[in-house]
Amino acid sequence: MSQPNEQQSSEAAQASPSSSRPRFAIVGAGVIGRQHGLVTSQLTDRLELVAVADVVPERAAELTAARGGRPYPSLTGALAAEDIDVVVVCTPTGLHGTVAIEALEAGKHVIIEKPAEVTVAKTDEIIRARDKAGTLVTVISQHRFDPSTEKTLAAIRAGEFGRVSSGIAAIDWWRGQSYYDSGDWRGTWELDGGGALMNQGVHTVDLLVAALGRPVEVFAYTGTLAHERIEVEDVATGVVRFESGALGVLHATTSAYPGLSARLQVHGDRGSAVIDNDQLAFFHATPVGQDIEERLMGTTQVTSGGGDDTASSNPGQLSDAHRMQYLNFLDALAGNARLRVDLETNRQSIAVITGAYESARTGKPVRLR
Ligand SMILES: NC(=O)c1ccc[n+]([C@@H]2O[C@H](COP(=O)([O-])OP(=O)(O)OC[C@H]3O[C@@H](n4cnc5c(N)ncnc54)[C@H](O)[C@@H]3O)[C@@H](O)[C@H]2O)c1
Repeated sequence: MSQPNEQQSSEAAQASPSSSRPRFAIVGAGVIGRQHGLVTSQLTDRLELVAVADVVPERAAELTAARGGRPYPSLTGALAAEDIDVVVVCTPTGLHGTVAIEALEAGKHVIIEKPAEVTVAKTDEIIRARDKAGTLVTVISQHRFDPSTEKTLAAIRAGEFGRVSSGIAAIDWWRGQSYYDSGDWRGTWELDGGGALMNQGVHTVDLLVAALGRPVEVFAYTGTLAHERIEVEDVATGVVRFESGALGVLHATTSAYPGLSARLQVHGDRGSAVIDNDQLAFFHATPVGQDIEERLMGTTQVTSGGGDDTASSNPGQLSDAHRMQYLNFLDALAGNARLRVDLETNRQSIAVITGAYESARTGKPVRLR
């Protein structure tokens, strides 16, 4: 499978209009579709929203009334009527593949909400369609663009954490029964693809993978313990082994009342980071070439990341993080940047999560490919 690289970015740029703003269509005008409407309205100097498609016509009409463009009952209708460059897929997860592939077969660039699809096999179908189309596809993983994440990943890349040996992805959230009851697709295997680990946890799993590298094996237990009328888990715990030898812990729940934070911990022998609720709660890195002071125990004089300007990332403002990913996508479309989150990246997180589900079903560790 090929990675969208700099060359592909510039080829994509040739396929898109260089003199005018790319024309966007949003498919799915629900909770996250409305966020994308907000982001597109904040970037009118760089793009134009020309269409919104939703199978519930009032939702498409409401979003176009607020953010521009014309409403359609389907992507097919929008593609027939409008000149579209980029399709943004905001439907329930299990429909992402169908919508994205229709857009790719029409030669469009695509932004897909997370996760790309509900299985690795379906994600691979999108990858094949993208390779055939030769266009750009990004999967939303907005927390990759948080300053706390950027600082941590930059330190790891620079060798300032030394040998990175372990990490923890913990999502201690609450979702009431009313959340699961709010849409027929929520909590189903077919359309949600999983529960706490897939829907809520994929962001933090993605950061764990970004920090620790390629995952190769997972073992997990899951349970549906505090909710009714859902097929999927509301608690998942697991362990992951990475290609580098590093070990990771997974903990995801939507049963932790009243809803605490999502947290990532990454540990190496020269530095560690704790990102809590998108903020750096702890950060220590040792520049390459600088000796670390050998201590029996590392309990004193550690550095906190709090208070410096790179530590804040507006956790409450979803659209800010989405906007940063849009800017990277638009720069890649113009041939001026490398796409920072691609399908292959998201595929690794989906492999960890679906591998965890298989492990929980079979009681055995699952090798990932
Ligand atoms: N990045 C994030 O932080 C984030 C947050 C929330 C949701 N999401 C993701 O966004 C996706 C949608 O979640 P949501 O909470 O907005 O769901 P939602 O139910 O609120 O909205 C989905 C919308 O898609 C429409 N729809 C369904 N099938 C369609 C089709 N074939 N064509 C056009 N429209 C169709 C529905 O009518 C609905 O309006 C999910 O994949 C979810 O994981 C991401």
